[in-house]
Amino acid sequence: MSFGPPKGTNDLLAPESQAWRGALSVWDDWSSRFGYPLVSTPIFEATELFQRGVGQTSEVVTKQMYTFVDKGGRSVTLRPEGTAGVVRAFLNSGHQGAWKGAYSGPFFRYERPQKGRGRQFWQVGVEYLNVESPVADAEVIELGYRYLSALDVTGLELLVNSIGDPKCRPGYVDALRTYLEERRDLLGEDSVRLIEPNPLRVLDSKVDRPKLVDIPSIIDFLCEECAEHYASVRTMLETLEIPYTEDSSLVRGLDYYTRTAFEYVAQGLDASQNAVGGGGRYDGLAEAIGGSPTPGVGFALGLDRIVLARGGHPPSLLDAYLVSEIGPEAALAAASQLRSRGVRVEFDGQGRSVKAQFRTASRLEVPVILVYKGSDQLDVQTTEERVTLALDDVPAWLEARS
Ligand code: HAM
Repeated sequence: MSFGPPKGTNDLLAPESQAWRGALSVWDDWSSRFGYPLVSTPIFEATELFQRGVGQTSEVVTKQMYTFVDKGGRSVTLRPEGTAGVVRAFLNSGHQGAWKGAYSGPFFRYERPQKGRGRQFWQVGVEYLNVESPVADAEVIELGYRYLSALDVTGLELLVNSIGDPKCRPGYVDALRTYLEERRDLLGEDSVRLIEPNPLRVLDSKVDRPKLVDIPSIIDFLCEECAEHYASVRTMLETLEIPYTEDSSLVRGLDYYTRTAFEYVAQGLDASQNAVGGGGRYDGLAEAIGGSPTPGVGFALGLDRIVLARGGHPPSLLDAYLVSEIGPEAALAAASQLRSRGVRVEFDGQGRSVKAQFRTASRLEVPVILVYKGSDQLDVQTTEERVTLALDDVPAWLEARS
C-alpha cells in the first residue's frame, strides 16, 4: 500500500474507537440532560461566513483555513469551528426566542500536526442563543465541566475571564498596546505584528506570554455592566460548586468573544495542547454575519484531546462472545435471540475451531463467554464463575451481573 491517511489526519479503528464511542455516548447523555437537541450544519460553508464571523485577525482565519474554489466558482471553506455555522443556521431558520443546539463532528484547521493537534479533529459543542443573562453562561460552563468530570479527564481545570464588550474593551486594548509597544524588544516577530491590529492576541502567544510581567488586567477596565455580568457568573459557579481559576490573561483565539471567556485545561497533557475545550459569550457574532442582534454563549471540546487525557482502557464493545461447538448456523440463530433481547454479542461466522473461537473471545476482552453445545443449554464462563443456563435465561443473568 502506498497510501497513508493525509498528513494531520488519523484513521480510527477498534479498540481505540471504543474510547471514542464511549465519550460520544456520555456526550449524548449530558447534552440531553441540559436540554440541548442536536444541531447539524454543513461541513463546508461560504468562506465569507468565517471571515466575518470568526474574524479577520484570528489565526484560524488568516493561516489555518482549508479554502478552495468549487466548480461553480464559489469560495468555500471546510469549517474550522462550529459557532459561525450554527448561528447562521439559527438566523436562517427564523426561530425567535431562546434556542439551544448541541453538535458533534469533524472540523478542519491547517496546523502543524502534533500529538493532540490535527488538521482534521473532532469537536463536541453547544450553542445557547438569545439569552443575555449570566445564568446562560453559568449553565453552559457547568455542562462542559460535568461532562469532562463524568469522563474522569485527568487534572481537569477550569479557567474563566471576562474580556469586556465593544464599549469597555477598547480602553483596555489601548492600554495593552502601549504596554506592549514599550516591550517590543522582548517579543517575537509574530507578536510584534499583532500589537497594532490585535494586541489581545499577543497574550495568547505561548512563547511570548511568559516573558511579560505586570500586564495590565482587563478586569480593571470592565464597564459596570460587564463587571456585574462577570460577578454573577462567578457567584453562580460557586453556588454550583464548580471549582474555577480566574485568569485575567485568558483571551481565546477567535475574534467573536464578548464578556465571558473560559477554557477547560487537562493538566495531564503537554502544555502546548492541554486545552481540552473552550468557549465564551459572543453577543456580536450574529450581527457580524448580517443577522439581527442575537446574544449567544457556547463552547466546543476537542474529542481527540479528551480521549488522550482520559487514558485508561476502552470498555469492551460486547457483553458476551458466543463460542459454538455446533457450527455457525446454530450460533447465528442463538445470537439473534440474544440480540433481540438487548444483549451485545458476537460469534464466529467462519466455522473455525472451538479453540480459535476462544482465542477471538480473549482478543476481544469480552467479560463473558457463552459456550453453545446444542439443545438449549449454554455454558456461561467468566473469570470468576461457570454456570449452565438455558438460552432464554441468559439475558436476565447478564443483566443481574452488570
Ligand atoms: P477553540 O478553542 O478554537 O474554540 O476550539 C475548541 C477545542 O477544540 C480546543 O480547546 C481543542 O480541544 C480543540 N481543537 C481545536 N483545534 C484543534 C486541532 N487542530 N486539533 C485537535 N483539537 C483541536 C472553538 O472552536 C469555538 N467555536 C468554541 C465555542 C463555541 N465558543 C463559543 N461557542
